[in-house]
Amino acid sequence: MTNSNSESHSAKYCQPDQNGKFGEFGGNYVAETLMPAVLELQQTYAKLKNDPDFLQELKYYLRNYVGRPSPLFYAQRLSDYCGGAKIYLKRDELNHTGSHKINNCIGQILVAKKMGKKRIIAETGAGQHGVATATVCALFSIPCTIYMGAKDIARQAPNVFRMKLLGAEVKPVETGSKSLKNAINEAMRDWIANANDTYYLLGTVTGPHPYPQMVRDFHSIIGSEAKEQIMATESKLPDALVACIGGGSNSIGLFYPFIDDRNVAMYGVEAGGKGLDTQEHSASISKGSIGVLHGNKTFFLQNDDGQINDAHSISAGLDYPGIGPEHAYLHSINRVSYVYATDQEALETFQLLCKTEGIIPALESAHGVAFACKLARKMSKKQIIIVNLSGRGDKDINTVAQHLGFKL
Ligand SMILES: Cc1ncc(COP(=O)(O)O)c(C=O)c1O
Repeated sequence: MTNSNSESHSAKYCQPDQNGKFGEFGGNYVAETLMPAVLELQQTYAKLKNDPDFLQELKYYLRNYVGRPSPLFYAQRLSDYCGGAKIYLKRDELNHTGSHKINNCIGQILVAKKMGKKRIIAETGAGQHGVATATVCALFSIPCTIYMGAKDIARQAPNVFRMKLLGAEVKPVETGSKSLKNAINEAMRDWIANANDTYYLLGTVTGPHPYPQMVRDFHSIIGSEAKEQIMATESKLPDALVACIGGGSNSIGLFYPFIDDRNVAMYGVEAGGKGLDTQEHSASISKGSIGVLHGNKTFFLQNDDGQINDAHSISAGLDYPGIGPEHAYLHSINRVSYVYATDQEALETFQLLCKTEGIIPALESAHGVAFACKLARKMSKKQIIIVNLSGRGDKDINTVAQHLGFKL
């Protein structure tokens, strides 16, 4: 299978290559001391991903613990409000723990168990990955430590409490911007020091190979279900898919099963923060450049010396100055369009979805819905958009109340 940017339109999409590269992106840029742990994980996952017993166990937990399949809901009132295309919501916010993150956590905890690891570490931004990790660790009785930026701890207090209730140790990270980037740095440091008995349960499609591939595979259930559901309801594929992008896991989960369906347009919605003409956004593809961080080569927000800039978003889960390497590749071959929605648009859409559909979305997901609404207006009533609703908004109530001037 070719791995170049000139991938033929008829060739089946098959990424990454055996070195974990998506074209020039991805790879294994880790300290020598971490290489044995990375190789151990690569070898284990290469076996497990085709192991019928492992896949059966995964299926069992996705159905009976996570609550899959998640529904695909035609949001008629939202569609009427936006005008144009029919908007369907893939309701991953209805999963156990309230977001897509649990799909990946169930998969990786089963990998960790197979590897005989005795301790789990993870990073978290919005706290959704931390909660999902703490949940699966409680389920399998494995101790866990979650690294979380001090800024995120302050704005996601309910999730911090949930992690503690579930038995996790939450370690505040006070360095740098005190958000997701720094939490990943600390988790990687812990992993280097304790790789023998510790499994790093990474929460998005970044990091060294095999994480971008493995996390994508665990989330691709989102797109596989959506494809089956839309075929059953509308007897045709959607015209467009839309999902928000932090590191890029919920979006690649929706997109991946449709990549070879060339008539399905795909839009990854980055956090436009206070606008792309300011420094306060997280639009790594729209405004970043190619660099290396957290074990992989991809797009980052950085200065001319390669120092990583602080990212900003109203939603903690999108506040990451990079993007998964597969997205960088899909951008380079023009298969996915990377667009953005601002803080203000996300806030307005958060309220719009509450009022039109009775659904309180995560602020992250509201970015996707905001863009979908604009896109729908340019499309006909016969056309279909599927938006991934990656999480529910309970965790964001305080942030939204503060912006709207409500005292809780
Ligand atoms: C609800 C929700 N949606 C989206 C994201 C963004 O992450 P990703 O791009 O990996 O899906 C997060 C991250 O915390 C999240 O909590």
